[in-house]
Amino acid sequence: MNYKQALKHPIFKIISQSAEALGLESYVIGGFVRDYLLERRNAKDIDIVAVGSGIDLANKVAENLPTQPKVQVFKTYGTAMLRFDDIEIEFVGARKESYNEDSRNPVVENGTLEDDQNRRDFTINALALSLNEANYGELLDPFNGIEDLDKGIIRTPLNPDITYSDDPLRMMRAIRFATQLSFKIEDNSLKSISKNKDRIKIITKERIVVELNKILESDKPSIGFKLLENTRLLDYILPELTALKGIDEIEGQRHKDNFYHTLEVVDNIAKTTDNLWLRWAALLHDIGKAPTKKFHKKIGWTFHAHEFVGSKMVYKLFKRLKMPLNDKMKFVQKMVLMSSRPIVLATEVTDSAVRRLVFDAGEHVDDLMTLCEADITTKNPKKFEKYHNNFKRVRDKIIEVEERDRVRDFQPPVSGEEIMKAFNLRPSREIGIIKEAIKEAILEGEIPNEHDAAFQLMLEKGKSLGLKAVGV
Ligand code: CTP
Repeated sequence: MNYKQALKHPIFKIISQSAEALGLESYVIGGFVRDYLLERRNAKDIDIVAVGSGIDLANKVAENLPTQPKVQVFKTYGTAMLRFDDIEIEFVGARKESYNEDSRNPVVENGTLEDDQNRRDFTINALALSLNEANYGELLDPFNGIEDLDKGIIRTPLNPDITYSDDPLRMMRAIRFATQLSFKIEDNSLKSISKNKDRIKIITKERIVVELNKILESDKPSIGFKLLENTRLLDYILPELTALKGIDEIEGQRHKDNFYHTLEVVDNIAKTTDNLWLRWAALLHDIGKAPTKKFHKKIGWTFHAHEFVGSKMVYKLFKRLKMPLNDKMKFVQKMVLMSSRPIVLATEVTDSAVRRLVFDAGEHVDDLMTLCEADITTKNPKKFEKYHNNFKRVRDKIIEVEERDRVRDFQPPVSGEEIMKAFNLRPSREIGIIKEAIKEAILEGEIPNEHDAAFQLMLEKGKSLGLKAVGV
């Protein structure tokens, strides 16, 4: 088969000519070819294999490009990279590889195109298009990857035990591709992942998280988390989630399986937001339930303060996985901590409770509502509708209260300086007490969020604290 039409971008001709000039063969391989055939076309990464030196080819291509881009060389790996037109192009010399037992770093020997295809992760990633004049655009597919693409199958070119144990990150990649593409991992491969799961320990946390994020960013992340669970990789990566598995029953009382519930919540939220961190919040919103679970004779199962415990666990989990401990982590913590607040509200929507919710959630109040709506997983259609309607009422109330009281980004209507001036005070605890009283009165709806009303309350509160107003 010829796929010349995949190679319309001018870069391919330049690579082809550069390779001919050096007397090398060159091929496009991997994700670009796979995604072209799947009609997922927005390739920003192109991988090129040269039969010979990939670094020499990259340098030649750079010379021949009008922009003369800088070539980044990774000597230890024998690879080179350059950018053109927003595209990252990676060059590698075809190689035979064998790996050390305890590291991902390969021992490299030069090889043919076929050697190179053999050492790739999946048949669908080993598809290559020729850039050589003689057969420009021809598909080279020694493992029938095109059929696997067609049937939606993830399969390794070699015995899966070799492919996965050579580079255990590929176990995560298999699951990630299965999730992104809605493909099935072929049976032997799946068994091999279970068998080799402990080898994941030699992979850095950062690389594992890249794959986890891609799973979470997919349309149906539960596919990936179920596979991670089935193969027991999840025990190592996110034990907080596997701890949610199972249903206990005491005296005929059962609680739901919080693991599968969580996966439903994540799938729900994936339909309404692309925000990766809100998806993380959905994944972690119930992790505090495992350590707080208790059975009481009178009331049954409880998960007292699981939101608070869960939000503390978020920090430890992010730290362990070497994820950023920045405002993204704080956002996830906040969502987990507040995840039950709108539910309590939904039965009785008072102005003051909504004002407090908006005040506490601040700019993230819409995200919090999105999380709570995704948390509705009841299979009873009547209840489903009722809960959604309740949240709709909360959302309407949020808009109404916010228009009137503006507490989302709360700024005290009377400043500390104004209080000091009014009572001729130096910085002191009375100022804090007065400010808190004003904030509380606004949130309770006792006074509007306006300067004059707040000033009046300040005078009254000051008086009750024994302060004398000057010049008023
Ligand atoms: N590859 C591999 N084993 C890995 C990583 C990559 O064999 N652990 C090979 C595959 O042939 C893959 C190619 O290198 O197609 C490029 O890898 P990468 O850019 O990481 O992935 P893509 O397949 O391009 O897919 P995506 O961009 O979605 O990650």
